[in-house]
Amino acid sequence: MRVLVTGAAGFIGSQVCAALTARGHDVVAVDAMLSAAHGDATTPPEGVLEVDVRDASGMAALLPGVDVVCHQAAVVGAGVDASDAPNYGSHNDYGTTVLLAEMFAAGCRRLVLASSMVVYGQGGYDCPVHGPVDPLPRTTVDLDAGVFEHRCPIGGEELDWRLVGEDAPLRPRSLYAASKTAQEHYALAWAEATGGSVVALRYHNVYGPMMPRDTPYSGVAAIFRSAIERGEPPRVFEDGGQMRDFVHVADVAAVNAAAVEADTGGFAAFNVCSGRPISIMDVATRICEARGGQAPVVTGQYRSGDVRHIVADPAAAAEVLGFRAAVDPADGLREFAFAPLRG
Ligand code: UD1
Repeated sequence: MRVLVTGAAGFIGSQVCAALTARGHDVVAVDAMLSAAHGDATTPPEGVLEVDVRDASGMAALLPGVDVVCHQAAVVGAGVDASDAPNYGSHNDYGTTVLLAEMFAAGCRRLVLASSMVVYGQGGYDCPVHGPVDPLPRTTVDLDAGVFEHRCPIGGEELDWRLVGEDAPLRPRSLYAASKTAQEHYALAWAEATGGSVVALRYHNVYGPMMPRDTPYSGVAAIFRSAIERGEPPRVFEDGGQMRDFVHVADVAAVNAAAVEADTGGFAAFNVCSGRPISIMDVATRICEARGGQAPVVTGQYRSGDVRHIVADPAAAAEVLGFRAAVDPADGLREFAFAPLRG
């Protein structure tokens, strides 16, 4: 198939291109080469065309004959402050709308969309007494006292996490999350209006070789790695018990290839995760142990707006796309301790 990959020079996009090429697809690779992701590197890597998805005529020139678009291009992170909003709105929301319009004009009816677990907001919680509940927001009184778990809205009990399925409500809580949710909604509306098909892949915590170094927009794995390279111990916030699912970039590339090859029809969303939940303390410890250096430090500090636990159910991606993560985080994080980073 002829597959147009956006964000093709990025951490995930470059691996998606490699996986698609290895499976015999004809890849058209584009990237806007934004300095936030590529620093001073202004020339795209070999085989990548410098095109911004917001450039309608640039996209229109490339889309005829394309069977599937694999849309990885996005401004990432959680957003530092409200001044970031137009950047997310422009690149992520508006960029997707231009792409969908140009796909429609060119007769391309299939989209694979890089979405994110952030669309779920808080994650899923059970009360030991009242069962599944929507948690109360964490209060500064609790957080300052070192009580990091959410409480039950009925009786105030501390809650336990549970796996989040794709049918969970979408409740974005950051600028980035708002833009990823908007991308999904535009794509769903486009699929209904055009009879096209969309597979939205909700990535959990992606890590692996060539992950961007520590920036205000980086995920925690890159922050821990960068600290170790500076000779500092990783600083683990709260009590380190925050649960996440770390999925290796090679698995993310593999699920994209599976989604490109599976025509599901209509709009379908899937969690992309390893299925092996891990605490933030364990992530830090595994990287430190592999390096043989200093142990992580649990600071007890917290970031306002951080999600306590977000852990996904991998069943639907396995059932429909045949995707099962090949890399166990225990192995992948050990390898990641020495992997090259970018930027
Ligand atoms: C992150 C991204 C989110 C992305 C998602 C999936 C950010 C800010 N968040 O969400 O946009 O969609 O992964 O890839 O990029 N922590 C520490 N020490 C640190 C930094 C963080 O202990 O130095 C803790 C945080 O308090 C949090 C956990 O690590 O509990 C995860 O943090 P982070 O990776 O930033 O955010 P996620 O919520 O997992």
